[in-house]
Amino acid sequence: MTSFFSFFRGIMTLVLSISSLFLPFTGGVSSAKFEAKDPDEVRLNFAAISDVHMKKDLVRYIKFGMGLSDMACSMTDIDALIIAGDTTEHGEEEHFEKLYGILGRVKFTDNYIIASGNHDTWSDSGFEKSRENFVGAYNAFTGSGIDKLYYSKEVKGYTFAVLGTEENIGVEASISQTQLDWLDTTLAAATSDGKPTFVVCHQPLKDTHGLPEVWGESSVGNQSVGLKAIMKKYDNVFYITGHLHNGLNNSEDGPETYDSVESDGTLHMINLPCFMYNVSRGSKLSGSGLQFEVYDDCVVVRARNYLSSLWLSEFEYSFELQ
Ligand SMILES: [Fe+2]
Repeated sequence: MTSFFSFFRGIMTLVLSISSLFLPFTGGVSSAKFEAKDPDEVRLNFAAISDVHMKKDLVRYIKFGMGLSDMACSMTDIDALIIAGDTTEHGEEEHFEKLYGILGRVKFTDNYIIASGNHDTWSDSGFEKSRENFVGAYNAFTGSGIDKLYYSKEVKGYTFAVLGTEENIGVEASISQTQLDWLDTTLAAATSDGKPTFVVCHQPLKDTHGLPEVWGESSVGNQSVGLKAIMKKYDNVFYITGHLHNGLNNSEDGPETYDSVESDGTLHMINLPCFMYNVSRGSKLSGSGLQFEVYDDCVVVRARNYLSSLWLSEFEYSFELQ
């Protein structure tokens, strides 16, 4: 099945190359090998994408499979895959079956850190059924035993804390005090040895990445201030989000006024582009995400278009660890 997706990736690369001639210039690309900057020293290497919006749709199957097949070709082992929510279009059982069916066919890791998004909790059968669908499908695929939309997972000694809404309140999240207290405890333990820790949540904090201008009131919601305060208590926390369908952007390089990557001290907020759709802002091509390379003294984040197997070299960041 991997070769099936590889075949379509070849066609897609050609189509993207031609279509890119008609798009505004969005910066440099590089066809450098798909490997970590320093393969001998990298401690953790993971791929992060968001907003896959899977449903019964052949184009979506092929696009997702093509992206995964690029990751499977990385010369440096990819230790984990992060999907920061809106994994499905509507949280129905059949949508999760398709999502995990493709993940199972193009497998390159045993570690999946998957957050729910607002689209994942919009099943026609209601929030509770959506939650059951998400949790059931995740557990069946990974062999995990999560019972909530928030959970933690350790990969090679690094902790990922996944946040998730506890009720359907539209496009924002409803994060309880219990969940915030759990995050506080999780981060205290995870950061005690100085390692970076990764918090994955579909919705960004208020007033980040162009909010509210890019999409009004569609942040993580009422707990934004409290959530940020908890993450700020600890060093080297990376808050990884999606949701906005913003293309990648550095505000100093063009007309858009938002940044995909923002830092406040040692809290780094990173908003992933939409994987499934072409978008109207920033770097517009679908199929992009970020590669995270964790070293002893820094974390390097590099944008990649997984459909064309190209690095988006203008979006490369290095965060020194404290
Ligand atoms: Fe989305």
